[in-house]
Amino acid sequence: MKEKIDSLINENIKALNPKQALPKAENAIYLNKGELPYPPSPEVVKAIVDAATTVNRYPDVLGGNLRKALAEYTGKKVEQIIIGNGSDDLIELIIKVFVKPGEEVLLPIPTFFVYGLATQIIGGVPVFVNRNENFDLDIEAIIEKVTPKTKILFIANPNNPTAKITAKDTIVEILDRVNCLVVVDECYYEFSRKTVADLLEKYPNLIILRSLSKNFGLAGLRVGYGIASETIIDYCYRAAQLFPVNKLALIAGEIALQNLEYVREKIAEIDREKSNLTKELEKLGFIVCPSAANFLFVRTKPLGITSKDLVEVLANKNIFVADFGLKQGLDAYYFRTSVGTPQENQALLKALNRSLD
Ligand SMILES: Cc1ncc(COP(=O)(O)O)c(C=O)c1O
Repeated sequence: MKEKIDSLINENIKALNPKQALPKAENAIYLNKGELPYPPSPEVVKAIVDAATTVNRYPDVLGGNLRKALAEYTGKKVEQIIIGNGSDDLIELIIKVFVKPGEEVLLPIPTFFVYGLATQIIGGVPVFVNRNENFDLDIEAIIEKVTPKTKILFIANPNNPTAKITAKDTIVEILDRVNCLVVVDECYYEFSRKTVADLLEKYPNLIILRSLSKNFGLAGLRVGYGIASETIIDYCYRAAQLFPVNKLALIAGEIALQNLEYVREKIAEIDREKSNLTKELEKLGFIVCPSAANFLFVRTKPLGITSKDLVEVLANKNIFVADFGLKQGLDAYYFRTSVGTPQENQALLKALNRSLD
């Protein structure tokens, strides 16, 4: 029976790895997913609870009020905004709209793995190009890899896992030199405060992706959005699901955007904790990549311990960070940790201190 089903499955899907979930442990500290460690504002929670009685009805087609609120927030037209079930959903949608099987998607690595995965799912070809030794984009290497089959270049800005920002000048130079679609993923925009949204009018091949997962603390509800030309958004909506964003997520996003002061306070707390955690990790001997996001990319090499071993030691103490050792062109000495609450960060530092004795 298994053989029969196997023979029916698309070859490009067969080539994918199974997904794995971490075991949920009580009192565990999860710093492995770049989440905001705080709940959304009480107003958002109340709006979700109030809306729960209306879920017998479908959500608004085309995003209703949330799209309008995002247009106001970004200073763009409603027709330039698309919302999705997390920005992951929009990554898949954009690839579906622009890439045919056999066509290429250019990925400066290390970077967010979903770009490559979503490309493989539709039978596209991820083409990897290494960043330089400081994890900055290597413009010449990118241009060299562009072929007539290249449809999209993804630039996560700041990048995940490295947390590094790419300067606007670099993005402009790339936009001036390529004809393919360029997706600048600003998922961590409220932490980095850096955007290239002002380039949209000049470059019709630019799409910007953002998320309410990280900065607005709505990861579990799944809301992302894209900003682009009206033409691109029109085509993306034609290919999108009819109801990509659920009702509770729509109302939560709308109310979160009315409570920006709450979000700013939480971001300020993360900023403070990020600089403390960076200093303390450096005191322990780690090298910490400059971070424009709410997570840190940490090199373990000076301590002579691989990230795999270190992550395992931490996991045994119920503290979970993400191992990047030997992934996407990296050597065996990198992990990524979210910036957590002060208590979570202290627990991480204490566990590291003990493990390194
Ligand atoms: C660069 C980048 N883009 C997109 C996403 C996906 O975010 P969302 O929760 O909006 O799907 C992530 C999540 O980690 C990310 O790091």
